[in-house]
Amino acid sequence: MVKTQAAMGTPEGERGAWSSRTGFILAAVGSAVGLGNIWRFPFSAAEGGGAAFIFIYLVLLLLIGLPIMFAELAIGRKARLNPIGSFRKLTEGNRLWVGAGVLFVGVSLFIISWYSVIAGWVMRYAFGSVVGSYFDDPAGYFTDVQTGMDALGYHIVVMVLTASALAIGVSKGIERVATIMMPILFTLAVFIAVYVGFLSGSGEGYSFMFAPDFSEVDGSTVRSAAGQALFSLSLGQGAILTYASYLDKKESLTTNGTIISIADTGVAILGGLMVLPALAAFGLLTGENAQGGAGALFIGLANAFSNMGIAGYFVGTAFFVSLFFAAFTSAISLLEVSVSFVVDQWNVPRKKAALLMGLIAYSGGIIAAVDGEIMGFMSGSWTDAILILGALLISIFVGYVMKDAIDELDRGGIRGVGRITIAMTRTVVPIILIVLLVLAIKVEIVDQYFASIDLFGW
Ligand code: TRP
Repeated sequence: MVKTQAAMGTPEGERGAWSSRTGFILAAVGSAVGLGNIWRFPFSAAEGGGAAFIFIYLVLLLLIGLPIMFAELAIGRKARLNPIGSFRKLTEGNRLWVGAGVLFVGVSLFIISWYSVIAGWVMRYAFGSVVGSYFDDPAGYFTDVQTGMDALGYHIVVMVLTASALAIGVSKGIERVATIMMPILFTLAVFIAVYVGFLSGSGEGYSFMFAPDFSEVDGSTVRSAAGQALFSLSLGQGAILTYASYLDKKESLTTNGTIISIADTGVAILGGLMVLPALAAFGLLTGENAQGGAGALFIGLANAFSNMGIAGYFVGTAFFVSLFFAAFTSAISLLEVSVSFVVDQWNVPRKKAALLMGLIAYSGGIIAAVDGEIMGFMSGSWTDAILILGALLISIFVGYVMKDAIDELDRGGIRGVGRITIAMTRTVVPIILIVLLVLAIKVEIVDQYFASIDLFGW
């Protein structure tokens, strides 16, 4: 295969490119499928009225998820740069938009700092499952894993692996990792979902997920479904934008974006089919044995595996390995946003950029690894609020600022989708996002620090 010299390591070639369409799709699905699908989605659905939540989620996916997905793809592929570089190039240096790019890079670094700590817990559980380390005392085990030197240690391991994949490159690193891990994750997940379905008592898990209960739905359900849609699709801070900057000009953005979104939603449902029936089978989904928050997964599910006997070793290992693969490929995309910025901006080799950003992200995560409350705060619902703001900026940019967005969107795909997307990013999408943002500010800031102002009970 003939490669130009530029592609082989001179500064221009440091950017890299996907080796194939499938490679891009797997990498993007790898980014999208993460802790959000297998952990957050099942519990949000269980709490938000099962199918009622899923219904709201799907509506928001169509109304904001897909348009923002297309919009990020269009910006990144048009500019062929990181978020900061993209906004600068497409606005000829407008300071406010460059500022939006800076926000995106900052937010991605922030999310990766705590995300990596949790990915570290998952890695530890994957090893622990092989020998059943948490079988005797799941709650005690989680306490040991969650904070302190152990958490810091695994956080380092995850960060070193993440930065190494990025240092190796776009196609040989990011793409190859996703190409290996995604099919394994998918296979294991199907296997687990089927297995837990045969456990007696698992039925309650399905009714939690699929029986609609609209009485559980309120304003916060809608907000959390919207945040979930953005988080799960990796939208709102430039990760998909960055991945699109390595995509061939001939590829259809809307077709590929749709495939990525469907795959992500599929794995979220699969996540529910693994987690909820397994908990239900051992009476851990509701009642006094049910755990909330991180405990639902790391104590509750660990408890379920320990109750499965010999099978628990296998199912537990399979589960935590797939969860780790999901989290790892997402971590890669989160760190890649800032790495691509450093590479584009300063012509630094990828290896140096990855080392530098890995160190920064590692340091950011230290406080989350030593203090559970800080972790709770960092990973709390206000991450959603920032993603909603990011999505709003993207929507306005593509709808009103970017030139030739329709051409970029329609190239190689179904004509007309570009026009519909732009119409949406000018109207419905920003309107919904502004409402959600106002509600988020109210709930996150006003209600926390000022007397509660009742806005129609939202
Ligand atoms: N989508 C991933 C998940 O579901 C997390 C993630 C990766 C992400 N990249 C992102 C979230 C960018 C927001 C923005 O776990």
